[in-house]
Amino acid sequence: MPLSKQRALAEEMVVRDAKEKGPVIAVDGPAASGKGTIARALAKYFGLPHMDTGLLYRAVALNLWRWGGDPSSEFEALRACDQLGFDPADKELRSEPVSKIASMISAYPSVRSALLERQQDFADQPGGAVLDGRDIGTVIAPEADVKLFVTATPEVRAERRLRELVERGMSAHYEDVLADIRARDARDSGRAVAPLKPASDALMLDTSAINAEEAVVEAIRLVEQRLAIVGGLNPYLR
Ligand code: CDP
Repeated sequence: MPLSKQRALAEEMVVRDAKEKGPVIAVDGPAASGKGTIARALAKYFGLPHMDTGLLYRAVALNLWRWGGDPSSEFEALRACDQLGFDPADKELRSEPVSKIASMISAYPSVRSALLERQQDFADQPGGAVLDGRDIGTVIAPEADVKLFVTATPEVRAERRLRELVERGMSAHYEDVLADIRARDARDSGRAVAPLKPASDALMLDTSAINAEEAVVEAIRLVEQRLAIVGGLNPYLR
């Protein structure tokens, strides 16, 4: 076969591969911004698997907490990453002490790298995937087809978190929840490794003045628009 024909065939295969690979959608944002709700809805809408990466950090935190380990020791936090099995429905994962420890241990570079491969493997599935977290668009899947960065004011996020806590039968005060949200924002944004910040090509979605349903509709619109722009090559709009 002549070289030019071989080259044309190879190019066609590359194009076909690109067409057959599903989209990777990265959803990042601060605590209680609505990113989890949006990511789950996008996964359902586009028929993609979804990973809530915050659960991985929560699972490490829960391990550490159950052993009585010290969250201010990076070494102990890293040990808590070993054989990380967990039940996503475990209520303790979302408890306040575990949330606090998760926020602390997620600043450790060794903990982040211990969890990296699991997240990247999930993102690399041939059918595509939706992942939500803090550093999906910047570190885990910098080549993601669509990156959303979901925000809301700290006051709105504190109200949402308070409502969630009350619905789960816990008592909490607005001022305390707001202070906690601000402290977590500072820790998430201020850490040296993988700080919370939008990727340069992220689409911003501010949910301060809209409800969850409106946020989902807007997220779907943004993703469809971006996928259409990404290409005539786009397999999802064929
Ligand atoms: O939404 P919320 O902040 O309550 O929690 P989450 O998304 O379940 O994340 C739990 C903790 O893990 C947070 O304090 C984040 O700082 C951290 N995290 C992270 O550092 N990187 C991620 N990709 C996901 C979560």
